[in-house]
Amino acid sequence: MEILGLCGSLRSRSLNAALLRSAAELTRPPRAFVVDRGLDRLPFFDAEVEESALPAVVAELRAAVGAADGLLIVTPEYAHGTSGVLKNALEWLVGGGEVDAKPVALASASPAVTGGDRARAWLAETLAVMGARVIPRELRVPQATLKIVDGRVTDEPTRQDLAGLLDDLARAVAEAREDSDTLAS
Ligand SMILES: Cc1cc2nc3c(=O)[nH]c(=O)nc-3n(C[C@H](O)[C@H](O)[C@H](O)COP(=O)(O)O)c2cc1C
Repeated sequence: MEILGLCGSLRSRSLNAALLRSAAELTRPPRAFVVDRGLDRLPFFDAEVEESALPAVVAELRAAVGAADGLLIVTPEYAHGTSGVLKNALEWLVGGGEVDAKPVALASASPAVTGGDRARAWLAETLAVMGARVIPRELRVPQATLKIVDGRVTDEPTRQDLAGLLDDLARAVAEAREDSDTLAS
């Protein structure tokens, strides 16, 4: 079972990237966790470019998302929404359809007490429109500078919440497989 982590922040010292780093450390075989932090390599979404000559980097992203059994998407909150870089990536993924029926878990870390709640709500709405199976459990990390140190989650309750989120996502992946087996039979 392969989970792909997508990060909406480009900062080298990103708190949200730290969530993905710790998620990778918490993942044990037979589960695998791979991280794609390269969303900045994507050009701005342009429907004409999509129709005429799909950029190779977009095809690579679509292939990676399509191959993953589930997604963990982490988002910073900028001006009460998600980041432009993550929204742009999702726009490229609409046309490919790889997110449709894909189990997705959401997490956000913020120095604020609100923990990125508004960015996650915004993201959940967009992903629902795209047909993703966004799992009910989400991870919010408020006052994240107290819980993430040197690029890793150090706060034990937050680590446990992150592990619980990964377990719920794995369950959603198993359920999605059962559903598609039932449809195929
Ligand atoms: C332009 C800008 C807008 C921001 N807007 C919000 C906001 O609306 N709500 C919030 O909780 N934090 C806001 N922040 C703080 C970010 O959540 C904080 O910088 C966070 O660490 C970014 O995520 P990252 O550490 O993964 O890069 C904003 C930061 C910037 C630079």
